[in-house]
Amino acid sequence: MTNKVREEWKVYKDVFDEFTLRTLHKLSTQGHFDELESPIAVGKESNVYVALKGNKKIAVKIYLLQACNFKRMYDYIKQDVRYTKLRKARRQIIFSWVQREYRNIMVAREVNADVPKPIAVLNNVLVLEFLGNENPAPRVKDEWPKNKDKFFNSVIENMKKLHKAGIVHADLSEYNILNWNDRPYLIDFSQGTSTKSLNADELLDRDIRNISKFFNKIGVKTSEEELKKKVI
Ligand SMILES: Nc1ncnc2c1ncn2[C@@H]1O[C@H](COP(=O)(O)OP(=O)(O)OP(=O)(O)O)[C@@H](O)[C@H]1O
Ligand SMILES: [Mg+2]
Repeated sequence: MTNKVREEWKVYKDVFDEFTLRTLHKLSTQGHFDELESPIAVGKESNVYVALKGNKKIAVKIYLLQACNFKRMYDYIKQDVRYTKLRKARRQIIFSWVQREYRNIMVAREVNADVPKPIAVLNNVLVLEFLGNENPAPRVKDEWPKNKDKFFNSVIENMKKLHKAGIVHADLSEYNILNWNDRPYLIDFSQGTSTKSLNADELLDRDIRNISKFFNKIGVKTSEEELKKKVI
């Protein structure tokens, strides 16, 4: 690493490997953000940070190269018809995984689904619009909507849009829907796959089951059958 990179990012040298630090540096020199501010979520495979560009907040999802279960990623991504020809090289799979997440969010944006605006992707780092005000928007699991029916209908609208655009989220649940000012925002498209993939129906059914279950739990009257009919 150059001295400049080393200097600027050295506080993170115990958190991220050199390659990741260089990737973060490159994204910041491209002008996407000035610095990381604080972690929002620390996961097994990725950390999500709030970054600052001026005083504007940006979300940065960083996959930890050492911690990624690339075998699992490979098994999942090769079932996506868009990625059947992928080589089984460790880093390449992780990068494709991150690219696919970005690509899925782009597709979702094109049909006006409520998802964070994708800003940039490089190697194992994804830069997204920050959803939240002073603090990050909470997951709907932690903050139930005030207007439950309206919120649920909006989730259905979003699922319809994704279906129409030809993608299945494949990890949809109250964990991956943020409640921002009582409106749903779908996040975490890392498992998102094409509706043409062999396992797409199964994955869509699972999304529908999770969503139906959660909204039932918080008092919305719905069923899997009804929800499926509305989505497809
Ligand atoms: N754009 C965003 N704005 C605000 N907060 C976000 C944003 N993206 C993610 N978060 C926060 O970070 C958490 C983790 O993000 P995400 O769900 O994408 O990753 P994950 O579940 O750790 O990853 P994965 O399932 O891909 O391994 C979310 O639950 C949410 O609290
Ligand atoms: Mg998640």
